[in-house]
Amino acid sequence: MCKQVVIIGGGPGGYVAAIRAAQLGASVTVVEQERLGGTCLNIGCIPTKTLLHTAELYRTLLKGKALGLKVDNLQIDWTALQNRKKNVVNRLVKGIEALLKANHITVKTGRAYLTDKAAVAVNGEELSAEVILLALGSEPMRLSFPGADLPGVIDSTQALNLETIPKSLVIIGGGVIGVEFAALFCSLGSEVTVVELAAQILPAIDSELAAKLRQDLSRQGVTFLTEAKVTAVEDGEAGYNVKVAVQDKVEAVPGEYVLVAVGRRPCTAGLGLAEAGLVLDRGRIVVDQHFATAVPGIYAVGDCNGQRMLAHAASAQGVAAVEHALGHPSIYCASTIPSCIYTTPEVASVGLTEEDLQEQDIAYQSGTFGLIANGKALIEEGQTGLVKVLTEADTGKVLGVHMLGPHATELIAEGALAIRMGATIEDLITTIHAHPTISEAIGEAALAVKGVAIHLPPTR
Ligand code: NAI
Repeated sequence: MCKQVVIIGGGPGGYVAAIRAAQLGASVTVVEQERLGGTCLNIGCIPTKTLLHTAELYRTLLKGKALGLKVDNLQIDWTALQNRKKNVVNRLVKGIEALLKANHITVKTGRAYLTDKAAVAVNGEELSAEVILLALGSEPMRLSFPGADLPGVIDSTQALNLETIPKSLVIIGGGVIGVEFAALFCSLGSEVTVVELAAQILPAIDSELAAKLRQDLSRQGVTFLTEAKVTAVEDGEAGYNVKVAVQDKVEAVPGEYVLVAVGRRPCTAGLGLAEAGLVLDRGRIVVDQHFATAVPGIYAVGDCNGQRMLAHAASAQGVAAVEHALGHPSIYCASTIPSCIYTTPEVASVGLTEEDLQEQDIAYQSGTFGLIANGKALIEEGQTGLVKVLTEADTGKVLGVHMLGPHATELIAEGALAIRMGATIEDLITTIHAHPTISEAIGEAALAVKGVAIHLPPTR
């Protein structure tokens, strides 16, 4: 008899796992309280990138003459753009619905709980299953400061649905969401200030790339306040005045809206998880290397286990979890998970950073190639970018690839594959990259590890 699998959550962790489980012959039910697709598709990656795509086109076309274009009276039609965003999202949600149907997966709409017998309860019905997969997702973290409850203090979901483009926006948090929204609204004409607690934006990214992105976004008009803390938000002429403590001074930064983007937390409260025997650590479900929880037969993937809060990590974990649960061999290679930031320039990163290597005391070599010497980057106005390749000193094995520039989020797949295959610097060097492409810079950065990049002056 085929195994019963019940999956709570229809985001990239849950729905991908559902399809894989169905492929392996299981009888699968997905329970989702809202729309299929989860945060990523409905209120995260997909709508944000849709808006960013148009914002970037707009910013590019405004340069008109410099690009050999005559552009008159270019305007943003915010209503049409919002409609386009909804259409893209709706189309993808329908696609998932159709895929689940084609795989004979049952979808139940409702909020599911774990019962004390570790079964799933939804809409008054109890679903028995040999395998339960939790793919519960996450929600924005809130900050508590005076004024935090004012109506213009918003999260990323609300920022995606503003009725008009704000004249000014203060963003608390210079992480991934903070910088993507800064790039978006700056391109659309808002005055944007980012307030970041740490000394650099994007603390988890290679520090050279983070510093360069900050420079580029500053040139585009974003103001960054680092080592800065919001102490209060008060009503003001622009809408609000955000009181920011920067070193010894307190500044008042005006903003029509204040976007809080200081991280996300797993949605694990009030679902009976601990009562069913699961172990939680600060809201994250504790799992082993197969994403199995402390309760046999129950697995947890994606944002709710807090390992890597990325859609593609959730999907890969979902596949690995159901493969393990159904007795199928599975591979989950966390070192190949790319991090991508969809600003202009884009940032993409896979593997270890220099900071990681130093912390872990791993002897390494580094090669950097600036896109100023890459023809395609010049054509695409991406000459401020760079590619950095990090290799193990003894073996030449590729340990990390970090990129800033046009199409970095696409090109990073080469770095991920190199890490997956255990490729060495020689493998990258002897892989022929097409000309003219920005991917040539990966080969050049690899050559730069040995000090012999072709399009760089000799180092000695
Ligand atoms: P994050 O963890 O990336 O960044 C939060 C930032 O807020 C950090 O830089 C932190 O130092 C700062 N911060 C914390 N408390 C603060 C305070 N009181 N005042 C000022 N700054 C403060 O979190 P973020 O940007 O909210 O993103 C949440 C999750 O969503 C992340 O895991 C991210 O990877 C994921 N995501 C991924 C995207 C992508 O892959 N392109 C896009 C959007 C989100």
